[in-house]
Amino acid sequence: MEKREMLYEGKAKQVFLTDDPDLIVIHYKDDASAYNNVKKATIEGKGPLNNQISTIIFKYLMEHGIPTHFVEQLGERDQLCRRVTIFPIEVIVRNVIAGSMAKRLDISEGTRPSNTIIDICYKKDELGDPLINNDHVVALGIATYEELDEILAMTRKINTLLTDLFNGLGVNLIDFKVEFGKTSDGKIVLADEISPDTSRLWDAETNEKLDKDRFRRDLGKVREAYEEILRRLTK
Ligand code: TMP
Repeated sequence: MEKREMLYEGKAKQVFLTDDPDLIVIHYKDDASAYNNVKKATIEGKGPLNNQISTIIFKYLMEHGIPTHFVEQLGERDQLCRRVTIFPIEVIVRNVIAGSMAKRLDISEGTRPSNTIIDICYKKDELGDPLINNDHVVALGIATYEELDEILAMTRKINTLLTDLFNGLGVNLIDFKVEFGKTSDGKIVLADEISPDTSRLWDAETNEKLDKDRFRRDLGKVREAYEEILRRLTK
């Protein structure tokens, strides 16, 4: 497999074509951004940490029956993945209220609702990734109701599996974001990454934040928090 030209550059990752049209290489950068690119920084070592964390989580999910785009880790910053067409939505799962939902609906951060909340955001930077609902997804031609049902069922299963995984590590999975794509043969798979960049992870005993909120809120020790998550995942 040969790494070829860059297909796309995002805020935290680059995507490269390979000599196989069905495979891409995802390269994890140290760059961090928040609030729709208003706040930016480089967190030295974040790329390799997220590559390892996301690799462990994707392998765990695949072992438990979740189809993903992940093929294998290539060195410290790269991952070989299936090429997919991404559904332009972010699916957010909230087990505990935090972040934008706490602010938007004036609910204290840390409140645990009786149900699991799933939000869908339309990935469109110029609109600030607005919150949309299931009918909007279909009306916008992003997915059919059947495809969305499959995505949401997979999301709930991922939530159960990740909640179990992190509970065993003394970490509460507060919320997280996932993305899905379609392979060339029409299969829906989990794509992108799952890491402290895309989730909220609080220490179960102290409620210490072990995720990107340390960067968003200038709490310091960002890299140390990601290292702690990797340490617990590899223990
Ligand atoms: P929020 O509080 O900003 O709505 O974020 C909820 C969760 O989803 C949090 O763990 C961060 C993650 N997330 C992303 O990874 N990317 C995004 O673009 C958004 C909006 C949220």
